[in-house]
Amino acid sequence: MKLAHISDLHCARTYMFNEEAMREGIKRLNEENPDLVIVTGDLTDWRIREDYEFALEFLEQIEAEKLIVPGNHDERTDGYRKFEKYIGKRYFSKVIDDIFFMGLDSADPDMDTGHMGRELIGWAREEIKKSKDRKRVLFFHHHLLPIPHTGRERNILADAPDVVEFIMENHVSLVLGGHKHVPWVWNLNGVIISHTGSFGSRRAPVENSYNIVEIIEEKIEIEKVYNLSGKSERML
Ligand SMILES: [Fe+2]
Ligand SMILES: [Fe+2]
Repeated sequence: MKLAHISDLHCARTYMFNEEAMREGIKRLNEENPDLVIVTGDLTDWRIREDYEFALEFLEQIEAEKLIVPGNHDERTDGYRKFEKYIGKRYFSKVIDDIFFMGLDSADPDMDTGHMGRELIGWAREEIKKSKDRKRVLFFHHHLLPIPHTGRERNILADAPDVVEFIMENHVSLVLGGHKHVPWVWNLNGVIISHTGSFGSRRAPVENSYNIVEIIEEKIEIEKVYNLSGKSERML
């Protein structure tokens, strides 16, 4: 299965939003013809109605099926309600091509820090039973482990140890996230934890990019692709 993983679009009618990178990225991504696109949050910059509508304009141009979770920017003030109105559920599971995908909401209103919470982890523990013996892919906005070249560590998931325990106990194969705007891959005892860069924000230490993730039976290959130049680099 070929996945495109995008994150941190930060759609807004401001200078910080790189509309050209966004348009080029979507064009390239459609040419890749992925089976599925995973979007790991920060669709908007300020969670206002105009940002959500602007984000939808772009998301609708992506031809493949999309699974989308919110990020901290989408949940400022009452943003989580707008996410539910414009996008849909904040956490869910879905089986696609015999792979079990679970999206979780790691954001809290008005906080940049990530936090999954006992209730959501409890829900995930029950929900993942539906996966039976399928391969399991988890995705949420924040990072579980520190990511190099991103400055001072401030908003790793507050309950990362409990989420790591959940991932290990349930033999998750792949975890996808964003938030730091830096593409990075960790291998934690065989669990691949992959972050993609920002798809549309100028507030990024590296150029706008997305990841292509190929799942071929037990093998996972990950490549980052830069929206504007189209240059790609293998990460795993
Ligand atoms: Fe972001
Ligand atoms: Fe974020």
